[in-house]
Amino acid sequence: MAGRFITFEGGEGAGKSTQIRLLAERLAARGETVVTTREPGGTPTAEAIRRVLLSGLAEQLGAEGEAVLFAAARADHVDRVIAPAVKEGKWVLSDRFYDSTRVYQGAAGGADPGLLGALERVAVDGTLPDLTIIIDVPAAVGLTRAMRRAGGEAADRFERDDIALHEKRREAFLAIARGEPGRCVVVDGTGSEADVAEAIWRAVSSRLLERAA
Ligand code: TYD
Repeated sequence: MAGRFITFEGGEGAGKSTQIRLLAERLAARGETVVTTREPGGTPTAEAIRRVLLSGLAEQLGAEGEAVLFAAARADHVDRVIAPAVKEGKWVLSDRFYDSTRVYQGAAGGADPGLLGALERVAVDGTLPDLTIIIDVPAAVGLTRAMRRAGGEAADRFERDDIALHEKRREAFLAIARGEPGRCVVVDGTGSEADVAEAIWRAVSSRLLERAA
């Protein structure tokens, strides 16, 4: 049987990586084989592109130039990691996927929608998420958490943007969820780690486990 592909989305400091770890542990305890990965990244080439993007070296290319790089990284990640794992029956949990491009470079970045649509089709090549979990927190909460996590290290290229832009990204994620309710679930990320994990588990089990049983 084919595996499952779940993507996690949200702004900075939403708690995605913790929640991915908790979900992976819970699935593994049920005997599932789980692959956790992230974007941009997940392959050596995509991780190299990640370093260029997050350092800010590509910022001068503008949102469309950055979108091209995110798409190149995504194409490699899909081809070498995500699609083969799903085919082998594994559960793939990815920290970010195409909704991040739609939001950061598109809705909040102003890149041409036609270009983004074409890049998305080429990069994703039919490997669509079965479920997308959008962890929602107010921008101010997320940024405070992200700063604490960085422990005084400088913010990356996208964290540096002003709070109004972070709020715009949050609204754009919520708009995607409203537009694609069959794929997306919004989870309130302001609760305790355990509460958020429980909400995610309810979504995964009702949408992907009970249906398969
Ligand atoms: P990361 O440190 O992984 O951030 P987070 O922990 O918030 O996920 O950095 C990824 C950054 O790249 C994040 O700020 C969002 C941005 N991004 C885009 O702008 N477009 C994309 O397509 C993707 C995948 C990420």
